[in-house]
Amino acid sequence: MDKIRIEGGVSLRGNVRLSGAKNAALPVIASCLLTGGWHRIRNIPSLKDITTIETIMSGIGVDFRKDNDILSINSDNINECEAPYDLVKTMRASILLLGPLLARTGKAKISMPGGCAIGARPVNLHLKALVSMGVDMSLDHGYINAKTDRLKGADIFFDIPSVTGTENIMMAAVKAEGPTILKNAAKEPEITDLACMLRSMGARIQGDGTDTIVINGVEDLTPAEHDIIPDRIEAGTFMIASAMTKGEIKIFGCRPDHLSAVIEKLRSVGADIEITDNCLFVKGPEIIKSADIKTMPFPGFPTDLQAQFMTLMCIARGSSVIEETIFENRFIHVSELKRMGADITINGNQALVRGKDRLLAAPVMATDLRASASLILAGLVAQGGRTEVNRIYHLDRGYEALERKFQGLGARVWREKA
Ligand code: EPZ
Repeated sequence: MDKIRIEGGVSLRGNVRLSGAKNAALPVIASCLLTGGWHRIRNIPSLKDITTIETIMSGIGVDFRKDNDILSINSDNINECEAPYDLVKTMRASILLLGPLLARTGKAKISMPGGCAIGARPVNLHLKALVSMGVDMSLDHGYINAKTDRLKGADIFFDIPSVTGTENIMMAAVKAEGPTILKNAAKEPEITDLACMLRSMGARIQGDGTDTIVINGVEDLTPAEHDIIPDRIEAGTFMIASAMTKGEIKIFGCRPDHLSAVIEKLRSVGADIEITDNCLFVKGPEIIKSADIKTMPFPGFPTDLQAQFMTLMCIARGSSVIEETIFENRFIHVSELKRMGADITINGNQALVRGKDRLLAAPVMATDLRASASLILAGLVAQGGRTEVNRIYHLDRGYEALERKFQGLGARVWREKA
C-alpha cells in the first residue's frame, strides 16, 4: 500500500488549481444512464471513485471514452441492471445508479451499500421515496431489487436533507408520469450541478439549491454536454493548509460562493482571505485563534471539512469545540492526531480541542477519505522528523494528486509506492 511522507515546517507559497468535484461528478456520470447517445462531461477529476463508477457502469454495457479530463459516455447498449457487491462495497455512492436505471429501464438490482468508517450510512430515505413513486422494492441476499412499470410523480418529504437521496429522486423523477415535489431537499452545490446537467438533457426542474425542488416529468431526454463544478472540499483543504503554515497561496478555478461558511470561519481564526471571481488568496496568520464549529447541511460548515478544521485547531491559541451533527462516527482521525501530540477530548458528538504550540511527526494511519487529508495537514506543520501517512488509498478516492499539488506549493511531501 502506498504511503505519503511529509517533512513539516514549510510555509506554503504559490498557486494551485482545483480539480472537478468528486461529489458532483458521480451523480452527473450516473445521470448519463437516463438516455442514449454520447454525453460529454468536462472537468472530471482523476480519482478512484470515478474509476469505480465507470467500472460498474461499464459492467452494465455503458461505453466510456476518456480524453484527459473530458469523459464521453454512451448508454445506448445497457444490457444489465446490476451493480455488484464487490464494487459497491468500495463506494457507497453506487446507490446513485438506482434512480436513473429505474427511469430508463424500469428495473435495477443494486447491492445494498454497507456502512463505512464514518457511519451506518442508511439509504432508507432513498428507498421510501422510490416506493412512493410506484417502485416495487425488495431486499434479497444483500441486494436491492427494484422494478416499476412506470415511475409516477409524488409529493416527497425527506426527514433529513440527504444529498445523494435528493440526487437519486431528481434522476428518478425526470421522466416520471406527473410532477414530483421534493421537500426538505438537500441544497448543496452538487445538487444544482446535477440539475444543470439534467436541464441540459431536457428535464424540467425548478428549485434546486433550495429546500423544495419541483420536477415535471418529460417523455424524452437528449444527451448533453456539461462542465463539473470545482471541488469546494479540496478548496477548503488548501485554505486550511495555508492558514496552518503561515502560507500565502492562490487557489484558482474555485467558486467562492460555495465556500461562504469556510471563508467566514477561517477569517475568524485570523486568516486574510481576498476573493476575486474564481480565485481565493489565503494568507495564514502568525497566531491562529481558536473557534468553534458545528457541521451542518449546506450552506453551513461542511462535514467533509470537519477533520481538516480540527487539525487547524490543534495548533490554535486557546480551546475550541468541534460538533459533528451529520455522521455518528466522524472522529476517527482524533486518535491519530493524538499520536502526533494533539490534545483532544471526545464527548459524544463533540470534540474539545486544546490548542498546542506544536504537533510532532509520527507514523499514522488513514481511516477514511477526509481523515487522510487531515493527517497530511498535520504533517505539514509537525516537528521533529517526517510524518508517514499509511493506507492512503483512502485519500486517492477523493483527492487528485494531492501530494503533487502540495509539492507545487513548496511542501516537502513525497508518495512512496508500496
Ligand atoms: C454525501 O453523502 C457526500 N457523498 C458525502 O461526502 C457528504 O459527507 C454527505 O453527502 C453530507 O454532505 C457524495 O455526495 C457521494 P447524506 P450522502 O445522505 O448523500 C442520513 C466525502 O467525503 N441518511 O446527505 O451519503 C445519513 O446517515 C463524502 O466526499 C439517512 O438516515 O450523505 C447522514 O447521517 C463522505 N437515511 C445524513 O443523513 C438516508 O436514506 C446525511 O447523509 C440517507 C441519509
